[in-house]
Amino acid sequence: MKVIREIKPMQEIAEFFRRAGKTVGFVPTMGFLHEGHVALMLAARDECDVVIASIFVNPTQFLPNEDFAQYPRDFLRDFYICKQAGVDYIFNPSAEDMYGENYKTYVNVEDLSEKLEGKYRPGHFKGVATVVLKLFNICKPHYSYFGQKDAQQVSMLKKTVKDLNLDVTIRICETIREDNGLAKSSRNTYLSEQQKEDAAVINQSLQMAKEKILANNFIDAETVKKEMKDMIEQKAAGSSVQYVAITDNELLNNISDLKGFKGDVLISLAVYFGKTRLIDNILFTK
Ligand code: PAJ
Repeated sequence: MKVIREIKPMQEIAEFFRRAGKTVGFVPTMGFLHEGHVALMLAARDECDVVIASIFVNPTQFLPNEDFAQYPRDFLRDFYICKQAGVDYIFNPSAEDMYGENYKTYVNVEDLSEKLEGKYRPGHFKGVATVVLKLFNICKPHYSYFGQKDAQQVSMLKKTVKDLNLDVTIRICETIREDNGLAKSSRNTYLSEQQKEDAAVINQSLQMAKEKILANNFIDAETVKKEMKDMIEQKAAGSSVQYVAITDNELLNNISDLKGFKGDVLISLAVYFGKTRLIDNILFTK
């Protein structure tokens, strides 16, 4: 496995493999890797001749008041995880190289970026879409792998690929969870042991909501959301639900008429445990 830190050599390597008729798989990450990231790498390893993983804590997707500075970083640990997962190249650029002086160009996916997470993290998805497009142009993948854990990121990137005619196929991998159901996340390192235990209630509330929606055609969206919020805040002391949304999975529009709705239902939420903000979701077909 090789580590590439500069943009031009990474482009040349990717281009070399493409011309040799090899399929290039790409897994963008912000590092501090866990089994969720590894699942994406293994899926890429399974499907592609060459696997590139990027490790880059992207400054443009953090709001000024967010955790960019504290975001956990451990390159050596990540290096061994990538190696074990069968990654061929780690792309690990500097912020200066990615966003040189006077950087001006951004990708904005209208509407989709402003919903759900976008309401509470304005500008976040503009940073994500921009960096992912830049990374695609540098790593030139045929296939790129993303986790369903970040459901809105997936919907938005699928739309970017479609709208901008990007020549890359997005693959989605299911959310990898702890034994108690808590979705794996680099940000879980901010949680105490007690909070990690308590946070199991997030997934329990999603499962409960799914069962209710599938079992009872007369339940309305507001009731489901309220039941989820109450369940979480009652079971986990010190937790506070920022939002629960029940939407379709493509344009992320609210579903108010749950009874009449047919198709994929996405329930997503953000919950604070102390200062730590966790997101999770469940996707199912009705
Ligand atoms: P990061 O949070 O490091 O996640 C990298 C990839 O791993 C994303 O596609 C994310 O959805 C996936 N992932 C995270 N936790 C997961 C879990 N528990 N199960 C399955 N997949 C999981 O998402 C980002 O970085 C950034 O926004 C990025 C796309 C790299 C752009 O900067």
